[in-house]
Amino acid sequence: SAPRILAIAGSLRTGGFNQKLLALGVEKARALGADVDVVDLKTLNVPLYDGDVEAQGLPPSVVALRERVAKAQGILISSPEYNSSIPGGLKNAIDWASRAPGRLFQGKWTAIMGASPGNFGTARMQPHLRQVMSSVGALVLPTQVHLARAAEAFTPEGRFKDDARQQEVEALVTELVQRVKG
Ligand code: FNR
Repeated sequence: SAPRILAIAGSLRTGGFNQKLLALGVEKARALGADVDVVDLKTLNVPLYDGDVEAQGLPPSVVALRERVAKAQGILISSPEYNSSIPGGLKNAIDWASRAPGRLFQGKWTAIMGASPGNFGTARMQPHLRQVMSSVGALVLPTQVHLARAAEAFTPEGRFKDDARQQEVEALVTELVQRVKG
């Protein structure tokens, strides 16, 4: 059966650089035959993690997120860097999904990408996200995709201007899909 990949962008804004980058990764994964579920943090709208809420019963948005993580065999993330680290919204979603019962990320191959308008392409965020994903049991691929100067990287149609960028993303996604297939 088709490898199941959950794809998630770390920022909410519509048409953001990371949504664009993620879309190109998703396109490649689908071309390789993967069944890709794209989580949209904006419409999912999970509340802030709160142990009181958790004790009363999980909100439907959290149940939905957890079911989608549970179903996935691999995870593809494209995230911006906020103040040299992980955006709070993405971290919050991971925190909810990490809670018992179950280790929903355990043993799942994970690929991390990041886009930023600056010169470093989320180089300070990525080690933090690696640490978080490792701590929830995910297996993070060593390959890194940093998209620096993202404001100049895309055509109006959302393709890369530079084919080398496309090759990098395709290589990472191919690795992810192959790992998931085992
Ligand atoms: C940023 N941005 C940013 N960029 C960066 O390269 N390093 C950083 O530390 C930060 N810090 C930061 C903090 C906060 C609160 C915001 C909102 C933004 C800029 C960020 O890279 C830019 O807004 C991107 O466009 C966000 O990605 P999307 O939404 O285009 O995917």
